[in-house]
Amino acid sequence: MIGRPRVHHRSTDSTNERARELASGGAPHGTLVTADEQTAGRGRQGRAWIAAPGSAVLMSVVLRRINGALPLAAAVAVCEALPLRALVKWPNDIWIGRRKVAGILVEGRPLEGWAVLGIGVNVSALDLPAELEDVATSLRREGLNSSTEEVLMSLLVSLDRWLERPTPEVLAAWRTRDALRGEAVHWPGGSGQAAGVDDSGALLVDTSSGRVALDAGEVHISR
Ligand code: BTN
Repeated sequence: MIGRPRVHHRSTDSTNERARELASGGAPHGTLVTADEQTAGRGRQGRAWIAAPGSAVLMSVVLRRINGALPLAAAVAVCEALPLRALVKWPNDIWIGRRKVAGILVEGRPLEGWAVLGIGVNVSALDLPAELEDVATSLRREGLNSSTEEVLMSLLVSLDRWLERPTPEVLAAWRTRDALRGEAVHWPGGSGQAAGVDDSGALLVDTSSGRVALDAGEVHISR
């Protein structure tokens, strides 16, 4: 079961870091690390993940049964766990409207047979750092008064439901929550119209020179 055993820190550098340590030491599938505060929370692409103490779900799970659809399944699970309609902005930012409410960071050691799934969900923050004002949100800012523990419990149930589902089911669910489909997008190497994901989870984009598949990185909406 996802969420047992659970280790909770009042403050730690990064729950992903703590979970990686536990995984290296043999912690079982499903082991959960949570924190009220992270002093060095990590985001994708070397970015920091910043949340005021107590305002966000900060969680990492050790997984020993992993497949290629893990990041997609995690994104679907987070969307389903939230009490508002949420969409996935490829590859796995979770959006309400066009603002990010949650992020997912998967770090793995496939040769050692484990991965750590880290999830951050902005729950109760009303004030956000100025640079995030226009691009991020929280459940509270969307009018909900859930506690971080309530959101965590809902996430665990949803992760249990989704993490080991067959890939075709995961892909079908992901595609119903695709925030970019049909949107004009650009990235450092080009631009075009987002056309869904292929069966490996790569983003398909129709460009002036044909369809391309992006298997890493991120894109921005052009308008
Ligand atoms: C992203 O969108 O860039 C991914 C953000 C992932 C943040 C979570 S918070 C809990 C876990 N511990 C970390 O250091 N990062 C993840």
